[in-house]
Amino acid sequence: MSADVGFSKGLAGVVADETSISQVQGDAGRLIYRGVPIEELAENATFEEVTHFLLRGELPSESGLEATRKALLDGRSLPQHVESLIDSAGKSAHPMKVLQAATAALSFSEGVVDLKDKEGNINAALKLTAQVATAVARFSRRRRGLEPVAPDPSLSHAENFLYMIHGEKPNKEEARTFDVALILHMDHDFNASTFAGRVIASTEAGLISSVSGAVGALSGPLHGGANERVLQMADEIGDPAKAKEWVLDALKNKKKVMGFGHRVYRTMDPRAKVLRSMLEKTVAQKSDTATYEILLTVHDTMIEQLSAKQKDYIWPNVDFWSGSLYRLMNLESIDYTPIFAVARVVGWCSHIVEMWQDNRIYRPAAKYVGPESAQFPGLQKRSS
Ligand code: CMC
Repeated sequence: MSADVGFSKGLAGVVADETSISQVQGDAGRLIYRGVPIEELAENATFEEVTHFLLRGELPSESGLEATRKALLDGRSLPQHVESLIDSAGKSAHPMKVLQAATAALSFSEGVVDLKDKEGNINAALKLTAQVATAVARFSRRRRGLEPVAPDPSLSHAENFLYMIHGEKPNKEEARTFDVALILHMDHDFNASTFAGRVIASTEAGLISSVSGAVGALSGPLHGGANERVLQMADEIGDPAKAKEWVLDALKNKKKVMGFGHRVYRTMDPRAKVLRSMLEKTVAQKSDTATYEILLTVHDTMIEQLSAKQKDYIWPNVDFWSGSLYRLMNLESIDYTPIFAVARVVGWCSHIVEMWQDNRIYRPAAKYVGPESAQFPGLQKRSS
């Protein structure tokens, strides 16, 4: 029997496994992917390069990058049964539910897992990464009553996603901004959805089945679902002049303000910093900046109030600024969490490929707080 290593609600601070994919350094407000600071990748890398880097553990050579790019291009189409499933979902279905079901349906063709077939698992991961983007774009258009747009092989992953959503090619600047937003969301060590995916993969269930479970975990409002809620909050506030009062009221009523707080960061989330700077550049070129102004006031009021309450460990996280950036790209708020999944699927798969090199089933212990001994009287006795 293993030694009792103690109890921590929500697994806070528990070291559950090893990884060399990414590290969140909470006190420093630093995030590294395989040692490289996220800011450096945001400045210089592309989605395709970081995908290769995370999945394989090495930066790609020109030919390696070409192979990754080709695998992502080749994987873009969906099998007929998945297209039909997406098209049959009602317009009121939440896109994250549709994505979870679509991902599960992609697993129908998944065979028995071969843990040691790293190359095969990486290829499956690249195909799934491409298909998740196509599935999200397809349902986004269906939901809006539009015909799906076929992928364009001349476009990069980020460009092609925006093209499949809007039906027109993005300009270079918009495509680069979106590419960087995807890079920022790709991995974040043992966040809840990655951990969920790892738990499933540790049973040697398939890669796609594991990712389907991770999609479910990402959808919750305390995790990836927060980005959609930030925009719902901005819409509910409706006017920058009302934002301060709204925040004061929320804090008075002990309501959580979405897009703030983090289990690990005790200072500014570095992803939020990069997103805010991209947002400021984008806002400067747009006329409709109401959402940004509302969120700016929410932000400043939160910082001021939290500092006064000695809760200055609560800062904006990645979900606070992403939505208003996406809104300026004419993306709808209900699609923001699926867009998170379009990026995070790379992290999920990288973790699965990594852990299968030396797998052990995840099976923690429970702190039992029920009675030690109880009776089971028959139904008749319980009814009398
Ligand atoms: N607004 C107001 N107060 C907050 C917030 C917030 N957003 N987040 C935490 N607090 C307070 C919380 O009320 C608690 O106060 P007290 O000690 O007086 O009870 C204290 O800070 C600690 O909060 P916690 O909920 O115990 O912290 P946790 O580590 O269990 O949860 C969290 C972390 C991210 C779930 C939480 O901060 C939260 O619910 N934030 C809002 C949802 C959100 O933005 N989620 C996205 C997270 S980052 C990206 C991702 O993972 O998807």
